[in-house]
Amino acid sequence: MKKADVFLSYEHSMRTVVEHICSVLEADGISCWYAPRDVMGDYATSIVDAIDNARVFVVVLNGAASQSAHVLNEVEIAYKRILDSQDELAILPFKLNDDQLSKAMEYYIKRLHWIQAGDQGIDRAIEELKTKIAAIVRPGRSQSAKRTSNHYYDEGDADERKRLKTQRQLLERFDKPVYDAVCASKGALNVLDLGCGNGSFAASRLAGKEVGCMLGVDCNEGAIQSAIANFGADNVEFCHCDLESDDLCGVLEDFCSKRCVKFDLINLSMILLHLKDPLKVLKTARKFAAKDAAVIVKDIDDGLNLAYPDESGAFAEAMRLCAASPWSGFRQSGRQVPYLLKRAGYRDVDLVKCGLDTLGMDYDDRQALFDTYFSIIKQDYRILSTTQPDNDSYRLAQKWIDQNYNDLEDAFHEESFFFSLGFMLFTAKR
Ligand SMILES: C[S@@+](CC[C@H](N)C(=O)[O-])C[C@H]1O[C@@H](n2cnc3c(N)ncnc32)[C@H](O)[C@@H]1O
Repeated sequence: MKKADVFLSYEHSMRTVVEHICSVLEADGISCWYAPRDVMGDYATSIVDAIDNARVFVVVLNGAASQSAHVLNEVEIAYKRILDSQDELAILPFKLNDDQLSKAMEYYIKRLHWIQAGDQGIDRAIEELKTKIAAIVRPGRSQSAKRTSNHYYDEGDADERKRLKTQRQLLERFDKPVYDAVCASKGALNVLDLGCGNGSFAASRLAGKEVGCMLGVDCNEGAIQSAIANFGADNVEFCHCDLESDDLCGVLEDFCSKRCVKFDLINLSMILLHLKDPLKVLKTARKFAAKDAAVIVKDIDDGLNLAYPDESGAFAEAMRLCAASPWSGFRQSGRQVPYLLKRAGYRDVDLVKCGLDTLGMDYDDRQALFDTYFSIIKQDYRILSTTQPDNDSYRLAQKWIDQNYNDLEDAFHEESFFFSLGFMLFTAKR
């Protein structure tokens, strides 16, 4: 029998709408099953098999459909599949208008995220549906596959400062032992911190360690001013410079020749994902590194993100939105790091940590992990939809986040919910 990504459940008076939905999805390579087009042999068996084989169950709703015994029966089969086998079937209710739904249908779908055609028009709603389904059936492909320079960081944005502070504290257990080990094997360190932000990260990881001198470089003027004010010293300098500009070489050359040093530790914490050409930056940094210098790279790869259970696909959708934000960086950066380091001439590349998950986390740590990842989405789309009010996708994303954020947060705190975020920590030598 035909196996399809999507099962379309509907009441016969909506056949034309369903054919339209199907043609839009299939034009984008998403296979669909609907009756009677795809029925083979016995009707009931064919329907049960199709639901069993689908990844997404779309129920097209209006008042009449919500009362239809056929549709209710199909929804019940879909639910049973989820309950019986803890299967990854996503149920997406697609509501055509403002009709009151039957109590029986509401019982099934009230906790799910509905796509409402009434609010935005049928074509936009179908686009929203397609985006959601694509994120479920081919999550890797729906993310942006290209690196771009994205400088966005606003030291004046209190929410972003707070998020980075939460992230820094949460990741202390993840990466601090690596800094401790690298520093223990060396004497006074000359440190280069690329993408240093406001200097807080290096200050916390190098606290108590012997630092000969340090140079932090960042393209954000406000962050650099803050770093100078809080951590600047005779031996600790911060410089405003775009890492991808040709100025970087001169900046490093000036610092090293003035102090007659080469760097013993190059720190790249959550910066490669923001660069269009990380290879060039890695090569430039290597020229100013001492012979046995250590490199520590922390990066992210959303391909390693896991969320379970995610029956409604809400976590998958949140991850898709994160990847689609122009400011969240290249979310498949982590997998490229070994290749980039080797190509830039570094050796002994090691992946020392991979993934940060909820197992063993107390309530506060779970909250910090949730805030670290999900608040980016909230913040980015708040700003994007305000500054670009005509951009429909930003507006829809913002609306979706407003509707779903609290549910995501509640689900995240469920004891049995498992989440793993694709932080990766690498070490290498010059
Ligand atoms: C996610 S923050 C990481 C800050 C710090 N390293 C940490 O781990 O907490 C990324 C930093 O990279 C900076 N950045 C992004 N693109 C840059 C570029 N092309 N040149 C210099 N800094 C850049 C941003 O300004 C921001 O401070």
